[in-house]
Amino acid sequence: MAKRSDSTLTGSARVASKAAGVTARAADAASRMVPGAYFRDRTVLIAGASSGIGRDIALTFARMGAKVALLARRRSMLDELAEAIRKEGAEALPLAADVTHRSELKEAVARTLTHFARIDVLVNSAGVALPGPVEIMPPEDVERMMSVNLMGTLHAMQLVLPAMRARGAGNIVNIASLAGRRGMPPLGGYCATKFAVVGLTEALRVELFGSGVKVSLVMPGVIDTPMARDASGAGILKNLPESIPLMPPQWVTWAVIAAVVLGLAEIDVPPGAVVMEKLAAFFPGLTDAAFALGNRVLDWLSTRG
Ligand SMILES: NC(=O)c1ccc[n+]([C@@H]2O[C@H](COP(=O)([O-])OP(=O)(O)OC[C@H]3O[C@@H](n4cnc5c(N)ncnc54)[C@H](OP(=O)(O)O)[C@@H]3O)[C@@H](O)[C@H]2O)c1
Repeated sequence: MAKRSDSTLTGSARVASKAAGVTARAADAASRMVPGAYFRDRTVLIAGASSGIGRDIALTFARMGAKVALLARRRSMLDELAEAIRKEGAEALPLAADVTHRSELKEAVARTLTHFARIDVLVNSAGVALPGPVEIMPPEDVERMMSVNLMGTLHAMQLVLPAMRARGAGNIVNIASLAGRRGMPPLGGYCATKFAVVGLTEALRVELFGSGVKVSLVMPGVIDTPMARDASGAGILKNLPESIPLMPPQWVTWAVIAAVVLGLAEIDVPPGAVVMEKLAAFFPGLTDAAFALGNRVLDWLSTRG
């Protein structure tokens, strides 16, 4: 039987129909409060899922009931993560792809849509950081970071948007950085890429205003992942003593979940960093001196091995 449109209903039938809709939504919301069910029937595509922040985000969404599509270049690490997620009873789809190659991303998005029928959330966590003084850094290093951090994010957003637009719903969360609000050594090139991600994201957020698709920025400080410090001594902070704690990746994951659930435009890790950032902008000379001192201390620590 054809469904009656709202305009053909009588006044009391319309009230009853609205009440039924509200009740159904309330029942759905209540059923999501069961542990492990919040993201039930939702699909999350995570670019940069093989390591660090992206890996933790993937595990957490899966534990909250989502189906997860795991994208990065290192297939073996994605397979291992997918296996761990399946053992916990959730669905995972590993997708080996390089975000700098639009054709590979296109294929990965198509496979996700075929496999899961929809993409509710895209998290762009793929990133690289190649530190060095701006004065002498190889321009190719900046190009490399731009191609992953900025262009990879742009490709992924453009490729998921048609499906999200068609449904009038979706969330895109870009992991930028506090280094995308204030330049600092030895990360000049990296900062430039993250400033670019911030600009792109803010503009897209305005373009999509009222469309039902929400775009969020998550701005972490220094997080304990291989990018910052890994066991082999690689990472931006190389020889920083283990005794100096960094923020755990879970803090970024909570920010991502909050951004999706509450539709937040921007969230800093730690929360409140935004206040420091604004204050620093008022006193650029003082901030420069503080960063110069911090950079020298880091250099000194790294020479001590
Ligand atoms: N750690 C921090 O202190 C910190 C602070 C602020 C912001 N962030 C940002 O957080 C995000 C995650 O970083 P992380 O700390 O988790 O670093 P990570 O552990 O090194 O992880 C980086 C991820 O990006 C993926 N990736 C790199 N190049 C790629 C490419 N061309 N195509 C596809 N995937 C690629 C890597 O996978 P494959 O190598 O397998 O491809 C890996 O999964 C990055 O955007 C980073 O800039 C990190």
